[in-house]
Amino acid sequence: MVDAAVIITGAASGIGRACVELFTVRGFGIVAVDVDEGALRDLADSLGGEVVPLVADVSLEETGIRMTELALSRFGRLDVAVLNAGIGGTLPWEAGGAIERLDEILAVNVRGVAIGIRSVAPALRDGGGGSIVVTASSGGLQAEPGNWAYNASKGAVVNLVRAAALDYAAQNIRVNAVAPGLTETPMLGRQRARPAVFEATSRRIPLQRWSRAEEQAAVVWFLASAEASYITGTTLVADGGMTAHHGAVPLPPLVP
Ligand SMILES: NC(=O)c1ccc[n+]([C@@H]2O[C@H](COP(=O)([O-])OP(=O)(O)OC[C@H]3O[C@@H](n4cnc5c(N)ncnc54)[C@H](O)[C@@H]3O)[C@@H](O)[C@H]2O)c1
Repeated sequence: MVDAAVIITGAASGIGRACVELFTVRGFGIVAVDVDEGALRDLADSLGGEVVPLVADVSLEETGIRMTELALSRFGRLDVAVLNAGIGGTLPWEAGGAIERLDEILAVNVRGVAIGIRSVAPALRDGGGGSIVVTASSGGLQAEPGNWAYNASKGAVVNLVRAAALDYAAQNIRVNAVAPGLTETPMLGRQRARPAVFEATSRRIPLQRWSRAEEQAAVVWFLASAEASYITGTTLVADGGMTAHHGAVPLPPLVP
């Protein structure tokens, strides 16, 4: 039996996969949830025994029940939930299907997180408390052109985390979010593969580079761990300084 257990959604790729690897090193038993059956099988095969795969869609209520039951039946406990599954793919405002795409994005990014929170909370409470970490986005704190549906969904996540933190604080359940900036994962793989786009976007980031998935997993780990025992309701920004800049071009210095 493991000393601690975590549920990680969107576990088969990118930031979720980096979280699975980090929590494995820290000795956690892991329920790894994803819709991508092949990638999930590869992950479980490469990491071995304490990673239990669950092929399921986070936007369905039954997934919340199944993932929690799996953690309790396989590990006898639940300590942490990393609600990380998310999708992009905003269509232009006036394109055909743009509202249907908004519904899909909200279903995964907002409904999926709400289902996750309400599903894992009883198991965390029964264990004396725990920690929920949600993957928001710098795009939930500010907006970028052409990304309105995603921006709306991640903005909702930031306030959902605040609200859940208030409602669950008395049960010793902390709820926080990480807000990654541009991160090298398959989600933005096509943009990352275009050198001109990659270089132009990197130049706009104060640290002059995209983040690695492992850097985001480290923030998730911090928020989940006892090191963050007095932090709840917050969104920790890990964006290389991007949202620190309000966007204006520098003015020349005033000389007397
Ligand atoms: N990559 C970035 O630059 C970036 C920046 C800010 C925030 N984020 C957020 O980080 C999180 C992880 O993104 P990533 O970059 O690692 O992307 P990714 O595409 O590499 O991984 C996302 C994983 O989620 C899974 N998934 C998608 N829909 C699902 C569903 N309905 N149910 C279960 N699993 C589902 C996918 O199959 C995939 O394995 C997302 O919430 C994303 O919005 C990413």
